[in-house]
Amino acid sequence: MPSLEPIPPQVVTVNDHELAARTRLDDNAWAYFAGGAGDELTLHANRAAWNALSLVPRVLRPLTGGHTRVELLGRTLPHPILVAPVAFQRMAHADGELATAYAAAAQGAGLVLSTQSSTPMEDVARPFLQERARGPLWFQLYWQHDRGFVRSLVQRAEAAGYEALVLTVDAPTSGARDRERRAAFKLPPGVSAVHLTDLDSPAHAPLRAGESALFDRLLAHAPTWADVEWLAAQTRLPVLLKGVLHAGDARQAAHLGLGGIIVSNHGGRTLDTAVATARALPEIVAATEGRLPVLVDGGIRRGTDVLKAMALGASAVLVGRPVVFGLATAGAAGVAHVLRLLRDELEIAMALCGATDLRQLEPGLVRPAN
Ligand code: FNR
Ligand code: LAC
Repeated sequence: MPSLEPIPPQVVTVNDHELAARTRLDDNAWAYFAGGAGDELTLHANRAAWNALSLVPRVLRPLTGGHTRVELLGRTLPHPILVAPVAFQRMAHADGELATAYAAAAQGAGLVLSTQSSTPMEDVARPFLQERARGPLWFQLYWQHDRGFVRSLVQRAEAAGYEALVLTVDAPTSGARDRERRAAFKLPPGVSAVHLTDLDSPAHAPLRAGESALFDRLLAHAPTWADVEWLAAQTRLPVLLKGVLHAGDARQAAHLGLGGIIVSNHGGRTLDTAVATARALPEIVAATEGRLPVLVDGGIRRGTDVLKAMALGASAVLVGRPVVFGLATAGAAGVAHVLRLLRDELEIAMALCGATDLRQLEPGLVRPAN
């Protein structure tokens, strides 16, 4: 069981958790968790884009019986907030991914575990699956250098009880992490990507004239649509693509009959100046015509942001850094608090927009602010 820590009384919002987390994490961990790629324009644009949407609420509607329940991949969830995959959570708190799992399970939030988890997937799945009112448990997959190793990860996830695979497609290489380089970021002793070992990395042949270390070595095994089809054929689990921003890619995912799409720019950590997710979402929803669920993440910090995402057609949302901030502030209790406060804020926002069911939210509730 993770440790029980108090939430400081002045911490009542996600932003408060961020401030509290900053005082608890060293510069090394902060550069990793809070930073983005390049000039961090997309990191900031994600939040700015939700803020730049104004709500046009409806009034005088009956509100009894209101709830936040949603249907997702054949299950009814108590609310539409999932924990995004975030690597190396033991760098934020000693209890790491276990604390997040206990908290998410208790709050009925879905959990997506990173390939680069610092806790083994079986240890995370066990307590999570025991909670009766839990949300969905998904495994995030980073494509690996060979299909045999991908298959072994998939089989391990299936055996451990994971219910969907989330293939992240926006990070064939990591972005230009300038903040991390300035901080000379390195993983602290005792924290590692436990599902991957050095033995799993292929040996690189020396470069020949005209070859690129990035394109011809590092990216020679980057996944393609053919690999997505192969993956979907390997598993009985639904496969979602995470990191789709272009309508053409969304249509391709729908065409392949995939389980869903996550509109994401990796929280501004891969391609800087990539479009903010709140701006990309409506186009992706339009392109997929309801053929598969469309989830979204990036910069969601308030219940009103969740409501706006749902009004623009999202099936659910994910939060990354808010979970890390809660974890750093107070371990499992901090993560539970973050998830609960977002849900509470969502309920308040629904009531004040005149909605008793998330399905009543429609794009007309949202308008660009000037
Ligand atoms: C991430 N993200 C991420 N995504 C993924 O598919 N696999 C991973 O291992 C990680 N690791 C990771 C580490 C850290 C420190 C962060 C902040 C993010 C991206 C994550 O799943 C999600 O897309 C973003 O975090 C969403 O943006 P917000 O909520 O952080 O603004
Ligand atoms: C990151 C990788 C692990 O964003 O996805 O740090």
